[in-house]
Amino acid sequence: MTSPKKKAIAVIIGSVREPRVGPEVTSLVLDILNAHEPIDIHHHPDYDLQEIDLKDHPLPLFDEPVIPAHVPTKMNYVHSHTKKWSETIARFDAFIFVTPQYNWGYPASLKNAIDYLFNEWKGKYAMIVSYGTRGGGLASGQLKQVLEGVRMKVVETRPALPFGGGNFTWTAMTKGELAEGVKERWERENGDEIVKAFEELKELLSEQSSGKSENHKTREA
Ligand SMILES: Cc1cc2nc3c(=O)[nH]c(=O)nc-3n(C[C@H](O)[C@H](O)[C@H](O)COP(=O)(O)O)c2cc1C
Repeated sequence: MTSPKKKAIAVIIGSVREPRVGPEVTSLVLDILNAHEPIDIHHHPDYDLQEIDLKDHPLPLFDEPVIPAHVPTKMNYVHSHTKKWSETIARFDAFIFVTPQYNWGYPASLKNAIDYLFNEWKGKYAMIVSYGTRGGGLASGQLKQVLEGVRMKVVETRPALPFGGGNFTWTAMTKGELAEGVKERWERENGDEIVKAFEELKELLSEQSSGKSENHKTREA
């Protein structure tokens, strides 16, 4: 359980197909953060970090009759899968989204999971790590826009991890494996950026704790 002072951060694996590299990419991101923090980030005094695999939260294509932004002021969720997903997300203060790029965007599984809720995301903080042939920057940009749409604050640094062309992407796509050398290259070339993004996330969380954070909840589209 998270103590009252601790911040809860969820790491969301955005892809759900099998086979997939999402869990392996997520583990690498956590390994890089673990190597940077003085102590195990899973047992940190200031925050708890937990993985959320969308595969463990099977949601049909959005089927709520209610508008999530109207919950709980005007109405309430109807379906049990939405109530369960709402309880899961409501527990966290911030999120690290690890997303692949599919056809220049991010996966429908992730968009669907976001659309189910609104107030559970609103006013919270997000970090985005994307991956793809050239890093999945287009998916990252689209995800940032949507997260801002549910009134989240996205940290400025958005690491984008490139497979490289040819066999590197082919192995990921068909076998769900990162090709040899990719992890080492990402650690070497993208590790600092992942740590920087996480530092920005922690900074926002600490500003929130001290009451210094700007109010980004009121912006309208
Ligand atoms: C439907 C689909 C579309 C894809 N489109 C892109 C793309 O636009 N850009 C890119 O860099 N990679 C693309 N890829 C390759 C993915 O980056 C690669 O398959 C990766 O393994 C997907 O992550 P996952 O294994 O966690 O699902 C695509 C893969 C799939 C399955």
